[in-house]
Amino acid sequence: MDESPALPDCLPSLPKNVTPTKVASADSQTPDSWVKRNAELIRLTGKHPFNCEAPLTSLYNAGFLTPAHLHFVRNHGAVPHVLKDVADNWKIRIHGLVKEEVALSITDLRRLFTVVTLPVTLVCAGNRRKEQNVVRKSLGFNWGSAGVSTALWTGVYLADVLSYVGADRRRAKHVIFEGGDSLPNGPYGTSERYSWASSKEKGMLIAWAMNGLPLEPDHGFPVRIIIPGQIGGRSVKWLKSIEVSVSESQHHLHYFDNRILPIQLSPEQARAEKQWWYDSRYLINELNVNSAIAKPAHGEELRVISLDAIYELRGYAYSGGGRRITRVEVSLDDGRTWKLSEIVYPEDSYRDIVHSDDTYGVLDLTERDTCFCWCFWSFNVPVQDLTEASCLTLRAMDESGNMQPRDMYTNATSMINNWWFRVAIVKCK
Ligand code: MTE
Repeated sequence: MDESPALPDCLPSLPKNVTPTKVASADSQTPDSWVKRNAELIRLTGKHPFNCEAPLTSLYNAGFLTPAHLHFVRNHGAVPHVLKDVADNWKIRIHGLVKEEVALSITDLRRLFTVVTLPVTLVCAGNRRKEQNVVRKSLGFNWGSAGVSTALWTGVYLADVLSYVGADRRRAKHVIFEGGDSLPNGPYGTSERYSWASSKEKGMLIAWAMNGLPLEPDHGFPVRIIIPGQIGGRSVKWLKSIEVSVSESQHHLHYFDNRILPIQLSPEQARAEKQWWYDSRYLINELNVNSAIAKPAHGEELRVISLDAIYELRGYAYSGGGRRITRVEVSLDDGRTWKLSEIVYPEDSYRDIVHSDDTYGVLDLTERDTCFCWCFWSFNVPVQDLTEASCLTLRAMDESGNMQPRDMYTNATSMINNWWFRVAIVKCK
């Protein structure tokens, strides 16, 4: 077990990271045969590449900060095998519209910039896709509702680095990130708008640690980008290059992934008609409002001991772009009437404290009112009412009034699926 270095007691407790000790047989004949993984993780794309989520109950029970062994993983190919001495000399090339091109190691980043830690929830744009795939098979694989995880990420602000290299503010429109993984159509890469990347308020980090420990290979060791409030697909792992540019990334997966194509387009048409993917209107950056019921789990058996007892429904909710969840509502009659749940925002515990040490650098959310993390909701329901209902339905709203829709937006990639979350109640004899 790896202990994360301590933080003040007033903060949500640090997760206990259980370091996997052996390579799974599923990985033994693959290029990842050196990566030790938690056997509890659910593999979503067969053996290789590795894509997984934890069982939702385990993820939820782990609490606000997700230990690395339960964090979801989205890899498009083999994990780059980076040994310690290579990691020590790993350099990120920073080039393009800059005064001076540089290549910086983690040691350089530590020396030149203020080291910071932020709690950030990462979400794969495919979270909850399985529900759409049941209705119509899309181009993507079956994520349940655990394609979301939260960690303390330590690194330096991308904005500080862009200012250090003298990025040309007038001409720059995009910042392009490239990873060190080799994929059939070239390395993984994507981009963000320069105006966002150069704003500390957006919180983008070049990060080398997760919950106070070095990144695990699956999460981008030795260094990656972390982008709060946006789909995980922009948070490039195994970061090799940052380019300031007038144009967006030309990487294959910048176009052929992480898009919501119009509903009229079937998956077959989307596959055949490439022009749709190049339309910048269909790119997704910010996450949309979403929520899920973790307790009860799908298929969980509830033993009714007393109809007067109270059952506590629980789960998570999040939104994108720093927006706060303002309400989570539960319905026991499939959306005819709704009741307000309680919401707890563990991220708020960080707002009054300033902590600084060698591991985490500066942890200071005192001047930040954006929400970069998930929150938890709970709702007490009399067991009697549960026995009379056929379904539990859930929806959340954020501070901009964005609310989860009743209906699915069945799109070819089935991304950012956020219709009302439901758990069916089946009465056993
Ligand atoms: N970066 C590289 N280099 N290669 C990848 O395959 N996958 C992206 C992103 N960064 C990816 C990547 C996607 S789609 C997601 S959702 C996040 O990484 C997942 O981060 P995680 O595996 O640490 O949870």
